Amino acid sequence: MNTPRRLAGKTALITGSARGIGRAFAERFVREGARVAIADINFDAAQQTASEIGVAAIPLCIDVTDQASIDTCVDEVAETFGGIDILINNAALFDAAPIAEISRDSYDRLYAVNVAGTLFTMQAVARHMITRGTGGKIINMASQAGRRGESLVAVYCSTKAAVISLTQSAGLNLIEHGINVNAIAPGVVDGDHWEHVDAIFAKLEGKKPGQKKAEVAADVPFGRFATPDDLTGMAVFLASGESDYIVSQCYNVDGGQWMS
Ligand SMILES: NC(=O)c1ccc[n+]([C@@H]2O[C@H](COP(=O)([O-])OP(=O)(O)OC[C@H]3O[C@@H](n4cnc5c(N)ncnc54)[C@H](O)[C@@H]3O)[C@@H](O)[C@H]2O)c1
Repeated sequence: MNTPRRLAGKTALITGSARGIGRAFAERFVREGARVAIADINFDAAQQTASEIGVAAIPLCIDVTDQASIDTCVDEVAETFGGIDILINNAALFDAAPIAEISRDSYDRLYAVNVAGTLFTMQAVARHMITRGTGGKIINMASQAGRRGESLVAVYCSTKAAVISLTQSAGLNLIEHGINVNAIAPGVVDGDHWEHVDAIFAKLEGKKPGQKKAEVAADVPFGRFATPDDLTGMAVFLASGESDYIVSQCYNVDGGQWMS
C-alpha cells in the first residue's frame, strides 16, 4: 500500500532553497506531493537545484533584503501556482566576532536578511493568504543560537532570538486568518553553512580547518551533526494539517543540543 502524500496539492515558497536545509525541505515537500518555488539570491544555483528536483520545482530569484524583489517573487509564485499555501523563511547569513570587533556592516547585513527579510517576506505572503482566504502555514527558521548568547556570536544569536519573537507575535496575530506561524530551531547541521562557520572560528580561535566542527559534533548528545534531511520531518508536520492547532511555537530539532 502506498503511504498517502502529506502535502498533496499544496504549494510552497521556500527562501534560500538553492542549497542546504532549504533544498532538503524542497526535495521532501515535492516527494510529499507539493509544488515548490526554489527562491534564492543565487539564481543560477536555484535553477540548477530546481532542474535536479524536477517539474514540481520552479526557480525564482529573490533578495529578501529588497521589498520590490520580495513582492515580485510572491506575485510570481502565486500566479504560477494559483496561490501560496506554505512559506518557509529559510534564507539567512552567519557571522561571528568578539563584541569589541563587530562591524556595523556585519550587523546591518545579518539583520537585513535574518530579521527584516523574515518579517517582510512573512508579511507579503500573509497578505496574499489573507486575501485568498484559505489560511496557510508559515515556518520561520530560527536556531538554538536564538535561545542563548554565545561569546563570539552576538549578532547572529540575537537575529535568531528576534526570529523566535517575531514567530510568537505573528502567530498570535495571524491565527484568526487560519494562518499558523511556527519556527524550527536546528542545532548544528552539516553543509556549506558550517564550512563557512568552521572557517570563521579557525580564524577567531586559531583552530585548524575542521577542528571546531569536530569539537562541536562531539558535544551533540545525539553524537553527530544533523543532516539537512533530519529537519524535514518537522517541516512537513508544520506545513501539514496535522499542525492546525499549533500556534507561535519554536521546535528544537537539535539532537538534544539545547538540553546539554
Ligand atoms: N546549518 C546550521 O547548522 C544551522 C543551524 C541552525 C539554524 N540554521 C538556519 O537554517 C537556515 C538554513 O541554513 P543552511 O545551513 O541551509 O544555510 P546556507 O548558508 O547553506 O543556505 C542559505 C541560502 O540562503 C541564500 N541567501 C542568502 N542571502 C539571501 C538573500 N538576501 N535573499 C535570498 N536568499 C539568500 C543563500 O544563497 C543560500 O542558498 C538558516 O536560516 C540558518 O540560519 C542553520
